[in-house]
Amino acid sequence: MTGRDLPTGREKTARVRAMFDAIAPRYDVVNRVITLGLDQYWRQRTVRALGLPAGAAVLDVACGTGALGELAARAGYRIVGADMSAGMLADRRSPMAAVQCDASALPFTTSSFDGVICGYALRNFTDLSASISEMARVVRPGGRVAVLEVATPPNPLVRAGHAIWFRHVVPLIGAALSDPDAYRYLPDSVAYLPRGEALKKAFRDAGFATVGQHFLQGGLSQIIVGTRAGVVGAAAP
Ligand SMILES: C[S@@+](CC[C@H](N)C(=O)[O-])C[C@H]1O[C@@H](n2cnc3c(N)ncnc32)[C@H](O)[C@@H]1O
Repeated sequence: MTGRDLPTGREKTARVRAMFDAIAPRYDVVNRVITLGLDQYWRQRTVRALGLPAGAAVLDVACGTGALGELAARAGYRIVGADMSAGMLADRRSPMAAVQCDASALPFTTSSFDGVICGYALRNFTDLSASISEMARVVRPGGRVAVLEVATPPNPLVRAGHAIWFRHVVPLIGAALSDPDAYRYLPDSVAYLPRGEALKKAFRDAGFATVGQHFLQGGLSQIIVGTRAGVVGAAAP
């Protein structure tokens, strides 16, 4: 997929799936290089932000190779993954159980998890609001969500430096180590992401209360956290 034309609908789903199938074998190593190792620190922060007790059942939506889910499992959570790319799932780094599915139609019953985590996937979803609604549906009332995404740094100097890295250096690294088109698409895909209040509102509209947004390293990444609204202890419909 080239970075310049941004597909929508079924075309987006097909192209995003094909892209992740193709880059799966080198996905983790390229991430480490293009973030200078910070991606794992940001995933750790996301797991901490979830704030559930050890033993909680947590769904890793768009788990990919399991980078985030693996850290959550190490923190004591019982993790199940879900992702639409067979290639990413085949390259799973840990024996985490996972199903192949679309985030907008999760094959889990209502209120079946204590929490949901999701790393660097919102931009890739074809139907963002349906996917966030599905996260809300599968989490029990009082359960938690913690979602990690890229962000746009507010400081103009940091933003300029970040733009040079993201738009010019990352595609070169991607071309050298993996697939050039995929790593040109990466900076362009930020255009799919609602900014600031709009992103928080999407989580509130889906049924999460007390939605917070925390920026990391001057806004290079962000974590959205929320608590599932509803009556705690109510039976699932
Ligand atoms: C950038 S990777 C992130 C993987 C992992 N969460 C991480 O932290 O490294 C994005 C993942 O989202 C998955 N994905 C994209 N659109 C999806 C959808 N509609 N339903 C399920 N998974 C999707 C891709 O297959 C890919 O594995």
